[in-house]
Amino acid sequence: MSAVAAVADIGLIGLAVMGQNLILNMNDNGFTVCAYNRTVSKVDHFLANEAKGTNIVGAHSIEEFCKKLKRPRKVMMLVKAGQAVDDFIDQVLPFLEKGDIIIDGGNSHFPDTIRRTKELEAKGFLFVGCGVSGGEEGARYGPSMMPGGSKDAWPHVKPIFQAIAAKVDGEPCCDWVGETGAGHYVKMVHNGIEYGDMQMICEAYHILKEALGLTADELGDIFTEWNQGELDSYLIEITRDILKFKDTDGSPLVEHIKDTAGQKGTGKWTVVSALDNGMPVTLIGEAVFARCLSAIKDERVRASSILSGPNAKFTGDKKQFIHDVSKALYASKIISYAQGFMLMREAAKENGWHLNNAGIALMWRGGCIIRSVFLGDIKTAYTKNPELENLLFDPFFTKAVTEATQGWRNVVSQGALLGVPTPAMSSALAFFDGYRHAVLPANLLQAQRDYFGAHTYQRLDNESWVHTNWTGRGGNVASTTYLA
Ligand SMILES: *[C@@H]1O[C@H](CO)[C@@H](O)[C@H](O)[C@H]1NC(C)=O
Ligand SMILES: *[C@@H]1O[C@H](CO)[C@@H](O)[C@H](O)[C@H]1NC(C)=O
Ligand SMILES: *[C@@H]1O[C@H](CO)[C@@H](O)[C@H](O)[C@H]1NC(C)=O
Repeated sequence: MSAVAAVADIGLIGLAVMGQNLILNMNDNGFTVCAYNRTVSKVDHFLANEAKGTNIVGAHSIEEFCKKLKRPRKVMMLVKAGQAVDDFIDQVLPFLEKGDIIIDGGNSHFPDTIRRTKELEAKGFLFVGCGVSGGEEGARYGPSMMPGGSKDAWPHVKPIFQAIAAKVDGEPCCDWVGETGAGHYVKMVHNGIEYGDMQMICEAYHILKEALGLTADELGDIFTEWNQGELDSYLIEITRDILKFKDTDGSPLVEHIKDTAGQKGTGKWTVVSALDNGMPVTLIGEAVFARCLSAIKDERVRASSILSGPNAKFTGDKKQFIHDVSKALYASKIISYAQGFMLMREAAKENGWHLNNAGIALMWRGGCIIRSVFLGDIKTAYTKNPELENLLFDPFFTKAVTEATQGWRNVVSQGALLGVPTPAMSSALAFFDGYRHAVLPANLLQAQRDYFGAHTYQRLDNESWVHTNWTGRGGNVASTTYLA
């Protein structure tokens, strides 16, 4: 292998569907890509089939692969998250030089990406952890891409990534996210928000079905209408299509599907991170738990014959209620994204990331599952004010959420009266009401903690931490655990 020419702009390891589609997408955009897979026969098969007639080249060893890359070399991996990523990094390193770039385009958990960035930078290499969303179709024709890590790598990968990413009004859904694990973190939050969006839509479907007794077809018409306004989004659009889809016997297919939800874990990671950061990301939390509750179907079936609910019937104006549900959905969605950005802000503080909030909204605006018109409004808000403390403080969203409250409150209370669960919508409302209260009952809570545990509290008129002898018998030694 003496004279291998460096011909490729980028190399890609891992020829499963996502990897193949990204390679084809890069080729379409005029980049020369070198393909490698551990099972070398996959490379030949790919070159002889999907990649036939393109400029794509292949390699049969890691050494040959690295030699075919122009400098600084860009090695992108689309392999299974976890050990495989570390293994391939170890395999390519001997054939790379300082300044070369390794990109992980898989679904890595952000702490791994933080670690890898630090380790590789210490050795003189550059590392990019890039969230890629949009599934196989997105990878082929325009994904949403969320790169973070070694910032010096960005000018080198930017032309390729922005060329292959989805575009909205000519703007690529790909921008630099931030340092170390920021790209994979933002992708994780994206997935959490996706859980929330899906759960809210399911609640809208559920309450309209139960309260108004609508058919799947009628519900499909409602979603068709919603998709033309402020709720216009990919998930509303596919829900419309799903509700209209007929089984072989002509009945709605959706009604034949078992109601137990699966999950792969990124929603859970988001909630765990929210708990670690002390951020009230309640809506995504409820969305994850709603899937958990759905999964214990056998137990729910038994519960349904033991536990009864109200016999109340909906008596209001049906048309108005449909409108109210759209408002409940819209307001809950605003809350969920506000919570998501609160979490990212806190994680950024914790990890020293300088997050590009407007860029994040833009990256989610197209190409990915949560793409929507709404994200354009979020982008506008953060472009206008990059230092915006909370999405709810942006005048557009302050107004939008305020206008939606009446319908939102009506839907949540109807749900309670009729016995139809709305965990995401009602927890979002509880958050909203809590967030807009300057005073919450935590004064009593602090008193309780001081009473039984001598945890001390602060007075409104004095910041010092004090303990009260509540019973006239307790010790005066304050617990130090609170202050520790
Ligand atoms: C190789 O290709 C197969 C699919 O053809 C894929 O499942 C596998 O993950 C790839 N592995 C690597 C690490 O190259
Ligand atoms: C605040 O409380 C502490 C502890 O009880 C006390 O020593 C201090 O004088 C108080 N300060 C004021 C300004 O009241
Ligand atoms: C708590 O108050 C009671 C009643 O005034 C008193 O007898 C007791 O000594 C106090 N305890 C302490 C530790 O100050």
